[in-house]
Amino acid sequence: MRGGAARRARQEPAWPLLERLDRALECGEIDEDRWYREVAAVITPAYLAADNPRAQSGSESTPEEWAYKRGLIADPVDRDGAFLDVGCASGYLLETLVDWCRQRGHTLEPYGLDIAPELASLARRRLPQWAERIFVGNALTWVPPRRFDFVRTGLEYVPARRQRDLVAHLLQDVVAPGGRLIIGVYSEENDATHAGHSEEERVAGWGFSIAGRAERPHRVDARLLYRVFWINRELDSPGAVAPEGV
Ligand SMILES: C[S@@+](CC[C@H](N)C(=O)[O-])C[C@H]1O[C@@H](n2cnc3c(N)ncnc32)[C@H](O)[C@@H]1O
Repeated sequence: MRGGAARRARQEPAWPLLERLDRALECGEIDEDRWYREVAAVITPAYLAADNPRAQSGSESTPEEWAYKRGLIADPVDRDGAFLDVGCASGYLLETLVDWCRQRGHTLEPYGLDIAPELASLARRRLPQWAERIFVGNALTWVPPRRFDFVRTGLEYVPARRQRDLVAHLLQDVVAPGGRLIIGVYSEENDATHAGHSEEERVAGWGFSIAGRAERPHRVDARLLYRVFWINRELDSPGAVAPEGV
């Protein structure tokens, strides 16, 4: 079962779909290609039909709500560098994050990756100055043209059984030595009320060392928190990858 599903279902609209597809994958009804196709068949048309860049990134928020939740992603950015948003959709996160980080004294060079070619095209049209930096590919297997000091992802972009592989691949092949893999922002039940492992505990359980975290109270539901956490890639290691079998 998708880890932490019960804790997140109330807040993440895509969760019932992902749970259903994970179950179908586990019992052999569908293969992984179909898993991605079915997710894209729901997400891509909805984003393309939206009339503002937040909704074109899957968020029904106001600009203020967007800044409150996504603003957490600026916390792990502690220096200048190249930033890759995995699952960039309309590219709005890149746009806003560059501004937030500039206000904190850090200059980011933004890059985006999306599995949906139509959404990558949308981001390129919206952000022509960065069009050459928007890539198409599946984060799980993507071979990057360069490494990035900061890479942000969501674990839900791949089937539950491949999430550890996603973290390992991004750390090994996409994050630059000395760089940082950022996971989130996501909503999760707070530690006082939840049962089961948090997203961070799940990733730590795979053998990755969590370097830091940030959270904010949910704006409406007191049982929920917005959360982000991060893993550092060591400067001189070949890749901060957990040993097999952990
Ligand atoms: C909810 S949007 C996130 C938009 C933005 N990054 C943000 O944080 O607001 C998720 C995006 O991830 C993309 N995506 C999903 N699975 C992916 C994968 N395996 N590799 C790359 N992109 C993926 C989707 O097409 C979608 O555009």
